[in-house]
Amino acid sequence: MYKHILVPVDGSETSFKAAREALQLAKLFGSKVIALYVVDLRKLEEYEEAEKEQAKRKLREFGVKALERIEDESKKFDVVFESMVKEGNPSEVIVETADQLEVELIVIGTRGLTGLKRMVLGSTAYRVVEWANCQVLVVK
Ligand SMILES: Nc1ncnc2c1ncn2[C@@H]1O[C@H](COP(=O)(O)OP(=O)(O)O)[C@@H](O)[C@H]1O
Ligand SMILES: [Mg+2]
Repeated sequence: MYKHILVPVDGSETSFKAAREALQLAKLFGSKVIALYVVDLRKLEEYEEAEKEQAKRKLREFGVKALERIEDESKKFDVVFESMVKEGNPSEVIVETADQLEVELIVIGTRGLTGLKRMVLGSTAYRVVEWANCQVLVVK
C-alpha cells in the first residue's frame, strides 16, 4: 500500500516518535523509509555573515546525528532505509522531496524543537498537511 514513506526529522523527541511509527508501518507494508533532515536556512538569518557557515555546519551535524539514531533503530525493524540531508525552508523541502520521490505517505510529528504547547500543530507540520500531495500521518 505504501511503497515509500517519508519521515521528516528535526531531532525533537516527537520526530523520533514519528520515525518509530514510520518504521513500524514500513515493516507491516514492506515499505522503504526515507528519513529527511532539512537544514533550516531561515535560522541562519540571525547570524552575522562571518558566522553563517559555521552555524550551518553545526545544524547539519545535528541533523546527521538525529538521522544516524533512526538508522540504528531501523536495523531492528528490518526495513529498507535511506536518509538524506537537504537545505532550505523545511516545509517546502519536505513537500518537494515527497513529490520527487513519489512517496505515498509522509509521517510527521505534531511538534518539533519549538514545541509550543498551545499550538495543535507546529508550523512545519501545519504547512506539510496543507500542501502535501500525498497522505500525511501526524504523530503525537
Ligand atoms: N528542519 C526539519 N527537518 C525535517 N523535519 C522537520 C524539520 N522541522 C520540523 N520537522 C518535522 O515537523 C514536525 C513538527 O515540527 P514543527 O512544525 O517545526 O513544530 P515546532 O513549531 O514545535 O518546531 C517535527 O516533529 C518533524 O517531524
Ligand atoms: Mg520547528
